[in-house]
Amino acid sequence: MRSARLVIALFAAVALSAPPASAVSAPPDVSGHKQTLRSAAPKGFHIGTAVAGGGHHENQPYPDPFTSDSEYRKVLAAEFNSVSPENQMKWEYIHPERGRYNFGMADAIVRFAKQNRQVVRGHTLMWHSQNPEWLEQGDFTAAELREILREHIMTVVGRYKGKVQQWDVANEIFTDAGALRTTENIWIRELGPGIVADAFRWAHQADPKAKLFFNDYNVESVNAKSDAYYALIKELRAAGVPVHGFSAQAHLSLDYGFPDDLERNLKRFADLRLETAITELDVRMTLPASGVPTAAQLQQQADYYQRTLAACLKVRTCKSFTIWGFTDKYSWVPVFFQGQGAATVMWNDFGRKQAYYALRSTLAKRA
Ligand code: G3I
Repeated sequence: MRSARLVIALFAAVALSAPPASAVSAPPDVSGHKQTLRSAAPKGFHIGTAVAGGGHHENQPYPDPFTSDSEYRKVLAAEFNSVSPENQMKWEYIHPERGRYNFGMADAIVRFAKQNRQVVRGHTLMWHSQNPEWLEQGDFTAAELREILREHIMTVVGRYKGKVQQWDVANEIFTDAGALRTTENIWIRELGPGIVADAFRWAHQADPKAKLFFNDYNVESVNAKSDAYYALIKELRAAGVPVHGFSAQAHLSLDYGFPDDLERNLKRFADLRLETAITELDVRMTLPASGVPTAAQLQQQADYYQRTLAACLKVRTCKSFTIWGFTDKYSWVPVFFQGQGAATVMWNDFGRKQAYYALRSTLAKRA
């Protein structure tokens, strides 16, 4: 038992450290004097990250890194001009009991963003996951539920009026097959699909300047799911519903190919006069037994990061590009995908990977 633990501990220790410098060839860096992502970014372009850590600390108080890791805060401020609360604006965090809000964690992030001249992406108002038990098990009437959602959106969006640039109003409402999540999503199940339009209307009422988005994963390509968004958004816009944006999360994996038609897909949404964005990019991989990615994996990862950014930069309305955490130290990936990890652009000690330099050079070339 003890030796099994030791093996696990050793494995973890190895996985935490960067490979020897010799194992990784340095990429050509054309960033010049622009030594951070935000300074390399073209004017008006938002380069963002999720804050502040995730599933990795399931058994520790939350949010830990944001409040207590000073190096983390330093890098967060220096490198990014956009932040997305990773969990802190989700229902279970911000509205833990009926009629009681907990704004503390979200407020702290919004304050930090202001101090550091960063914009904020609000995430999220309507989702099938991370809802509090009082809501999911509440046995409410349709009229009550509708009022609960209206009140939540008015309160949360209203509180951050003028401080949140983009809101993920509706998150992951379609399945990969392009069907509405009529069973998992409490709002759609209990109130019908029309509630989606209402959510956008209420959010717009609460903050007329915030840009309101549909956000999902596996919508990087032209496929059944992104087609479903395309059709729905067209319909909603024709009906005058205030939908302003469509975003692809982009949780990519080296175990799958790169979505080559990303640019083409984003462009068709841009052609509907919508803002587009990449909101949660990370590139995970199956780790070798050593726990340390190979040089080839790191190279391929850098390539995925670079191509995702390049696609966004080529689409006129894609002005917001967010990675889902910037250091492996706090990435959600290893907790959710056994044997996988190293998905972000920095090692645990904030040492930069090739993927980081690939992003910086690509930004600098377009600045
Ligand atoms: O904070 C609590 C802690 O108090 C509690 O004791 C513990 C027990 O389970 O849970 C802790 O919460 C965890 C939370 O992360 C913070 O660490 C949750 O269990 C865990 O499920 C949660 O994971 C988050 C995941 O969404 C849940 O769906 C990840 O951090 C977050 O990165 C991830 O983000 C999602 C986006 O919102 C939407 N797109 C996909 C993306 C990745 O799954």
